[in-house]
Amino acid sequence: MFEIAPSILSADFTKLGEEIRQIEAGGATVLHFDVMDGRFVPNITIGLPVLKSVRKATKLTIYCHLMIVEPNRYAAEFVKAGADMVSVHVEADVHLQRTLTAIREAGGKAGVAINPATPLNSLEEALPFADFVLLMSVNPGFGGQKFISTMTDKLRRLRRMIDERGLETRIEIDGGIDATNIAKIVEAGAEIIVSGTGVFGKGNGAEGVKELIDAGTNWV
Ligand code: DX5
Ligand code: ZN
Repeated sequence: MFEIAPSILSADFTKLGEEIRQIEAGGATVLHFDVMDGRFVPNITIGLPVLKSVRKATKLTIYCHLMIVEPNRYAAEFVKAGADMVSVHVEADVHLQRTLTAIREAGGKAGVAINPATPLNSLEEALPFADFVLLMSVNPGFGGQKFISTMTDKLRRLRRMIDERGLETRIEIDGGIDATNIAKIVEAGAEIIVSGTGVFGKGNGAEGVKELIDAGTNWV
């Protein structure tokens, strides 16, 4: 089983409410909300005021992917503003365990995000404090980038790492995923599949989500 998490970074912000209704109709279960600060990544996107509006517009699970420096300053704020799940980057936080605990104490699910070139062992000690891992399959900062092919093997190793420890930590994967490669990603063990261009790229979010569900279901 897998879930589709459309990244609204690729949506039309002038009609965001309508775009959200489309992905709901297509069968998406998680809304992926990319927060960029222009420092951790070379781009600036959206933050707390937009999250509060989106929260009023949908019952979907809202997942905030914080691509910001000093995430400990803001992580719990995102839960209070309506996020169900919040992830912080292992590269951005020297007190990761504290931040993950703060997210949980605020009532959210806590996640660790990890960049393509960061080794998996850097999150090993954080796993017991995380509800999920967000494996980046592109360098964060922009939608529409190409999936880095070695990330399929990294995903398999992450799956093994979690299973061997008997943990319930879920795996979400983010970057460059569309109908052409989703099958092998589901097969390698990802449970939540983020897609921006793959969902919104053709102008109809409902069709985009359905296409991904179809392509990911037929891998067996
Ligand atoms: C990239 C973001 C992604 C992005 C995915 O930095 O974290 O969530 O929106 O977009 P696609 O699916 O187009 O790679
Ligand atoms: Zn993201």
